[in-house]
Amino acid sequence: MNFLITGGAGYIGSHTCVALMERGHSVVIVDNLANSERSVLDRLQQIKKQKIDFYEVDVTDETSLEDVFNGNQIDGVIHFAGYKSVSESVQKPLEYYRNNVLSTIVLLRCCLNHGVKRFVFSSSATVYGDYYRPLTEDLPLRPTTNPYGETKAICERILIDMVKAHPELGVAILRYFNPVGAHESGLIGEAPSGTPNNLMPYITQVAKGKLDKLKIFGNDYPTVDGTGVRDYIHVMDLAEGHVAALEHLDKGVHIYNLGTGQGTSVLQLVKTFEQVNGVTIPYVIVDRRPGDVAISYADVSKVERELGWKAKRSLEDMCRDAWRFEQMRDW
Ligand code: NAD
Ligand code: WQD
Repeated sequence: MNFLITGGAGYIGSHTCVALMERGHSVVIVDNLANSERSVLDRLQQIKKQKIDFYEVDVTDETSLEDVFNGNQIDGVIHFAGYKSVSESVQKPLEYYRNNVLSTIVLLRCCLNHGVKRFVFSSSATVYGDYYRPLTEDLPLRPTTNPYGETKAICERILIDMVKAHPELGVAILRYFNPVGAHESGLIGEAPSGTPNNLMPYITQVAKGKLDKLKIFGNDYPTVDGTGVRDYIHVMDLAEGHVAALEHLDKGVHIYNLGTGQGTSVLQLVKTFEQVNGVTIPYVIVDRRPGDVAISYADVSKVERELGWKAKRSLEDMCRDAWRFEQMRDW
């Protein structure tokens, strides 16, 4: 099948393109390169010697997006395009609401106009807020503490209303936990511009000597060693979760957590990274980061049961692949 991938030049989108092509599908990428490099497309082609159609288009630009739909037979879409920084969203709420919510509305309008019935949406575990338990998909969404999380919750509600109005649609809402790691080739991975906000790219940049030391945000949480616990998932497992969701998609709305179901503390991740890669990560404990929850990990029983998908890569794989990418990247 032929899938349109918005944000396909980005971190998760590029890996998902590889996973889709591995399964014999073809991809049309739409990305405005707001947070990605054009060179990702060449590297994708190095990994998979397959034609990739690319359109440098802003998904909020309905006229240009209509042209893409007019020029291609699309069997389904995955909507990755959006802004994703929690802290930036607090500084620039209008940009976040505009880009994340409007892009979803415009893409849905194009899907309706062109009879595209399969829609997969990138949501986030951030919509759960603060619960002290494995997170199940049926939990009521908690009012979130930042505009980024709100944009995801709003888009989820839009998609639920769309399916009520158009029962022929099949929508998968995928709530990602903490995607890390890179494709095993080392050619694509997470390459944030500026100082990373997230833990794994911060660690890899400390390992490379680009940053001095890791700041660990708090060691007084009620966790195994006082540092925050998260459900880290290898980005290629996450990518394969999208393929499973698209290939099994029935009519209606289907919400799935994509995680491993395992919690790992910051210190456990640092230690694993050091052991696997034979490097030292100097760190210092600083104050908690405002808005952080102590513990967040997925209940993955629904996705395993309904899609037959399960993350298979280990924390060691995540650390090894993230470091390989950081060492290889020259931008
Ligand atoms: P990313 O920034 O690497 O990729 C997003 C891509 O979308 C970028 O290539 C960017 O250029 C593009 N883009 C942004 N706005 C656009 C627009 N209006 N039109 C066209 N292209 C546009 O981010 P990512 O980590 O790959 O995340 C992908 C999606 O997954 C996002 O929606 C994000 O909110 C969601 N998500 C990410 C994480 C994470 O930790 N990385 C966790 C949960 C959910
Ligand atoms: C992980 C752990 C930090 C950086 C964010 C978004 C979420 C989703 C994934 C998009 C926490 C600690 C981090 C550092 C640290 N993104 N940490 N020092 O906060 O779980 O989730 O990314 O949807 O919405 O909120 O991920 O990688 O920032 O933090 O100690 O320099 O590492 O306190 O415990 P987080 P993260």
